[in-house]
Amino acid sequence: MAIMLFPKNFLWGAAASAPQTEGHSSTNGKSPSIWDKWFEIAPDKFYQRQGPENTSDVYDLYLEDVANMAKLGLNSYRTSIAWTRLMPDGVHVNPEAVTFYRQYFQALLDHHIEPIINLFHFDMPWWLMARGGWESREAVSKFANYAQVAFEQFGDLVKRWVTFNEPLVQVKAGYLYGFHYPAVVNFRKAVQVGYHMLLAHTFAVQAFRQANIAGGQIGIILDVTPVYAKTESASDQRAQRAADLLNIRSFLDPAVLGHVPDDLLELLEVNQLTPISLLGDGAAIAAYTVDFIGLNYYRPKRVQAPTKPATPAKMPNELYEDYEWPARRINPYRGWEIYPEALYDVAIMMRDQYGNIPWFVSENGMGVANEARFKDASGHINDQYRIDFMKEHLQYLHKGIAAGSNCFGYHTWTFVDCWSWLNGYHNRYGLYSVDLDHHYQRQVKQSGLWFKQLITDNGF
Ligand code: BG6
Repeated sequence: MAIMLFPKNFLWGAAASAPQTEGHSSTNGKSPSIWDKWFEIAPDKFYQRQGPENTSDVYDLYLEDVANMAKLGLNSYRTSIAWTRLMPDGVHVNPEAVTFYRQYFQALLDHHIEPIINLFHFDMPWWLMARGGWESREAVSKFANYAQVAFEQFGDLVKRWVTFNEPLVQVKAGYLYGFHYPAVVNFRKAVQVGYHMLLAHTFAVQAFRQANIAGGQIGIILDVTPVYAKTESASDQRAQRAADLLNIRSFLDPAVLGHVPDDLLELLEVNQLTPISLLGDGAAIAAYTVDFIGLNYYRPKRVQAPTKPATPAKMPNELYEDYEWPARRINPYRGWEIYPEALYDVAIMMRDQYGNIPWFVSENGMGVANEARFKDASGHINDQYRIDFMKEHLQYLHKGIAAGSNCFGYHTWTFVDCWSWLNGYHNRYGLYSVDLDHHYQRQVKQSGLWFKQLITDNGF
């Protein structure tokens, strides 16, 4: 294999989020998010009734985790702030939260690990959900206000900020396919919710510009599922364009280029899905674009023409349908397609369609169910499959960088196995395992040791 070295100062790190790792979800001044409440109402929906209360107890164990990150040589780490911890009632700042996050971020800095901090990772506060959540325009200004508080409290420690993680996953899971709270199934509402999240992002960027943080940059993290059509036929190609507009360009274009694509506006109008907007929204979207983009890549999206097309479409499957590519390779431990080639396509898309804006892989990783079965005699998880997965993806990323794409980092999901919404601890992704039966004990996996070597060599 050829030697593949990555650019100087490349960010090597890992990603996680507050609700999936911190624990202490109802103590230390934190108020409930939709996850805490939903678990209270319907615990059986959660894998093995594993709820958000304790997760991986980073609230108590962050110093140990940061020390382990330093051992592997990570130079960056992305996590989020919980809105419900920082501003439990949406108005007052919780001093305990300020102390916790300041100590956490300082510990990262002390170990030369750059904190990249996201403001929202699926964790809508319950008090705001009770007032309509993202369906309500009020959520836009509430979010911008929370963002401003976060910039004021932590702007001296954190230079790279992120508004949202995967807003479209929240739209789809919460308002289209019914698998996250509030489990609404309504295309029109989904579009309105997505639009409000886009505005919340936009006005948080405005607050960031006003905060004037020395050396600060702001971006957004999107899930990128590159869309491939089944055939070259006109109907499959039309389906591909609709899926691409709805799943990728709906956020990437406004965030980077400052406008919602015309063909998306047209698609929404034809299908009677145009969201309610206010005068001035377009100008704000144009004015407050991002400095960088994070892209979470796990798997591609393959589509074909809908078997039952309809106008107006009541659901996206009347515009495009998912299609199973016969030649696909599957991760047998999670069921998702493995297609590392897409990372090259993504790199080229960012180079050619988005002005070569700086971007990084903000999540990439391999989920494995019941991973304890891969423990070796010494008790370590021997996850060669994960090493192969990362290696293959990095090869295609490298190819994209060699072709001139402006990628500045790679973050794997995740550092320590974490709680994942309804899936609880079912799918493990970490470079370290966590033992739920033994006080959240962490142990490095084979992939962690490989990652260390990767960072030392700045490639492989
Ligand atoms: C990512 C999300 O898309 O997928 C994470 O940002 C999530 O929050 C991860 O945990 C893995 O998901 P799953 O369903 O395999 O546990």
